[in-house]
Amino acid sequence: MSKAQFFSSLQKEVARIDQAAISKRFEHLIEDFNHDASPKAIIDGQTISIFNSNDYLGLRHHSALKNSEHEASSRLGTGPGAVRFISGSFAIHRQLEQKLAKFHGRDDAMVFSSAFATNLAVIFSLIKGQNKDSLVSGNTLVISDELNHRSIIDGVRLANLDSEAKLIFKHLDSDSLADILSANSDKFNRAVIITDGVFSMLGEYQDLKAMRKVVDQYDEQFKEGVLLIVDDCHGIAAFGQTGRGTEEISGAKADVLVGTLGKGFGADGGYVVADQVVIDYLRESAATYIYSNSISPGTAAAASASLDVIESAEGQKMIKKLAENVANLKKQLSNKGFKFAADSIHPIQAVLIGDTVKTQKLTKAMYERGFLITNINYPVVPKGRDEIRVQLSASHTKEDIAAFIEAMTEEGKKLEII
Ligand SMILES: Cc1ncc(COP(=O)(O)O)c(C=O)c1O
Repeated sequence: MSKAQFFSSLQKEVARIDQAAISKRFEHLIEDFNHDASPKAIIDGQTISIFNSNDYLGLRHHSALKNSEHEASSRLGTGPGAVRFISGSFAIHRQLEQKLAKFHGRDDAMVFSSAFATNLAVIFSLIKGQNKDSLVSGNTLVISDELNHRSIIDGVRLANLDSEAKLIFKHLDSDSLADILSANSDKFNRAVIITDGVFSMLGEYQDLKAMRKVVDQYDEQFKEGVLLIVDDCHGIAAFGQTGRGTEEISGAKADVLVGTLGKGFGADGGYVVADQVVIDYLRESAATYIYSNSISPGTAAAASASLDVIESAEGQKMIKKLAENVANLKKQLSNKGFKFAADSIHPIQAVLIGDTVKTQKLTKAMYERGFLITNINYPVVPKGRDEIRVQLSASHTKEDIAAFIEAMTEEGKKLEII
């Protein structure tokens, strides 16, 4: 026996994944963009209109972000050089954190290399504590929405809690959350509720007002209260009148809010905003912050410029245009006879196809016509709920959307979807 045997098992597992048609490693490679007013990617030498990006405001191509990134990396170098507490903290990191805190109306913020890394460390630190001596360790109940993002699931997994200390409430159902809190208030010191703001498969979002009501109602019934953590990576800089995401849409705030700089903000990295005491504690305990590099100074400068753009009249216009693009696409696709898998005003619009083969054929046909969309199939969604996930951007023009609808309609008819 040797590791050849192990590698043979790996080979078999890859073959199993390929057989099930769920492989992810055959990505399209973007070679360039055409740098028009509504940028299109060049893939295999072909110009492709991207309808599956998280760059909701089109900010990754904005000159203010590019210039800031360039200026900062020319002056400060291309990498952080060390982790934050050694010598990798730059003034630009702190300025970005202060801006993020202000943007979200919180005391302070912390920036991480990604939102995935943020969730892993924030969740672990708040439910477990770093070691047995930690005053945070012990007797926490974690309650998660059943469709939470993988980074939240893994953050909870890291804490290795007993099964009765990690419970699941029904998707988007605050009554289900209330039932669980009610049944457990005498068994735990504190409860931590964790949910996505926007759920990326369907563009649905949590009603944070309803959830806040439940959390506040049960806060007194646990010795150390109930804490609400919301990951709104897809909501912030994507919807809400001023781009503040699910909190703005639903009119209520999380206790701890996680976001990404790599979607609507058009840069890269993740962050958390919260009360000062929470951030002070996390700076002492979050492993992916203490033992892993932060974003580069250039990326921090780009993210900081992105916040300035979003707060400006130009940014507010982008947010409005994005909402108009969403309404326009929904109306036109409905008029053509397409159905949606969820009723959402978010730039993620899930077009219900309901058939795995047709969904795959439609994605392929659309690509051949110059449009990149994502097909989401069983087992990611239940059988018969196969969908095309369309993601809109403020940088899409009316002409881009009209061309997209025309191609979807022609291909949809050929496949007898409409
Ligand atoms: C809800 C949610 N949380 C976290 C992440 C991770 O974001 P990042 O790419 O910044 O790690 C994503 C990205 O897919 C997400 O959708």
